[in-house]
Amino acid sequence: MVGRGKIGLAARAVRRQRWIVAGLGLAAAAAVAMLGTPAAAPADDSARGARLYRSHCLRCHRLEPEANRLGPTLFGLFDRPAGSAAGYRRYSRTLREGTFRWNDALLDRYLADPRAIAPDNRMPFSGYRSRADRADVIAYLRERFGDAATGASQ
Ligand code: HEC
Repeated sequence: MVGRGKIGLAARAVRRQRWIVAGLGLAAAAAVAMLGTPAAAPADDSARGARLYRSHCLRCHRLEPEANRLGPTLFGLFDRPAGSAAGYRRYSRTLREGTFRWNDALLDRYLADPRAIAPDNRMPFSGYRSRADRADVIAYLRERFGDAATGASQ
C-alpha cells in the first residue's frame, strides 16, 4: 500500500512537470509570435519617429509657431503651403515660390531626397534612404499637427 502511494505521488509529480514544460513551450511560442508582429504588420511608429526627429531634425526645426532656426518652424506643417513659415527668409526659390501644400506623399519624397522636390534645395540634410524612417518621422509630425487626411491642423 505504502509503495503504491509513493508511485502515485511520483506519477503526479511527473505529470505536473509535463504541464510546466508545456506551459513554458506556450510562453516561448507567444514570445516568438510577439517578436514577429512588427515585421508581419509594419505600422508607422510615431514614438520611433519622435526619436528620429530629435536626432536629425530638431537642431534646425522647432515645432512651435514662429520658432524659426536654421530651418523654418514646422508648426502646422500638414496642408501648409511650401515655403510659407512667417518670418523665415532663407527659403530656396523653389519652396518660396512653390504652389504646393505639404502632405504625406510630398514629405516622403522630400525626406528621401530634398532635391527631388527642390533642385535648388537649401536644407543641409542628405535624406533618409529607409522608407520606415521617413514614415515614422511623418507619423510623428502628423500626430503633432492633426490628421493629414482631413487637412486639419492645430
Ligand atoms: C542642418 C539643418 C536642417 C536639418 C538637419 C533638417 N532641415 Fe529641414 N530645412 C532646413 C532648411 C534650411 C530648410 C529650407 C530649405 C529650402 O528652402 O530649400 C528646410 C526645409 C524643410 C521643410 C519645408 C518647410 C516649408 O516651410 O516648406 C520641411 C518639411 C523640413 N525641412 C523637414 C525636415 C525634417 C523632417 C528633418 C529631419 C528628418 C529636417 N528637415 C532636417 C534645414 C534643416
